[in-house]
Amino acid sequence: MPDLIVPLYKLAAEAPREDGVVIRRAITPEMHVVCDFATQHFGRNWASECAVAFAAQPAGVLIAVEDGALLGFACYDATAKGFFGPTGVAEAARGRGVGAGLLMATLHAMRHAGYAYAVIGAAGPVDFYKRQCGAIEIPGSDPGIYEGMLR
Ligand SMILES: CC(C)(COP(=O)(O)OP(=O)(O)OC[C@H]1O[C@@H](n2cnc3c(N)ncnc32)[C@H](O)[C@@H]1OP(=O)(O)O)[C@@H](O)C(=O)NCCC(=O)NCCS
Repeated sequence: MPDLIVPLYKLAAEAPREDGVVIRRAITPEMHVVCDFATQHFGRNWASECAVAFAAQPAGVLIAVEDGALLGFACYDATAKGFFGPTGVAEAARGRGVGAGLLMATLHAMRHAGYAYAVIGAAGPVDFYKRQCGAIEIPGSDPGIYEGMLR
């Protein structure tokens, strides 16, 4: 899976939501909720990345919440500076624009933090990123920073 690069200086505006899903930055007391969610839905490697993103102040973690329930999350600066991810949406909540909303909110947060580009590390759904935010594949980036990673 290659890394992708996203130019943040020409990022599209975030689309307003009218479906009751709130996408916002997480706060420290929510760390265990998000890490447990990441473990349950995606595995402990992603929970580790979430924990590191929570160590920043403000947390480098955006979450999607509906009626008090966590639907998904996205991180930045977790495994490397300037990296977007991991991100994940609970299977039952997919296909409702939650993943796209988390992506755009997080990329805007990175832009505000001073980055000109975001790197999407080991991108799984490459077409999703190409379509949502104009991501471009980085030649020679697979396996990149994750080579030999322990699981
Ligand atoms: C990838 C993921 C975050 C997308 O979340 P989602 O909430 O289902 O996505 P959205 O509903 O916001 O999708 C927005 C658009 O992208 C498309 N899309 C969603 N997943 C896609 C995929 N895997 N590949 C290509 N297009 C995709 C949708 O069809 C939708 O298109 P539309 O605007 O034409 O209707 C989610 O599928 C997920 O958690 N996957 C498992 C974890 C993962 O792979 N994370 C990324 C690691 S780099």
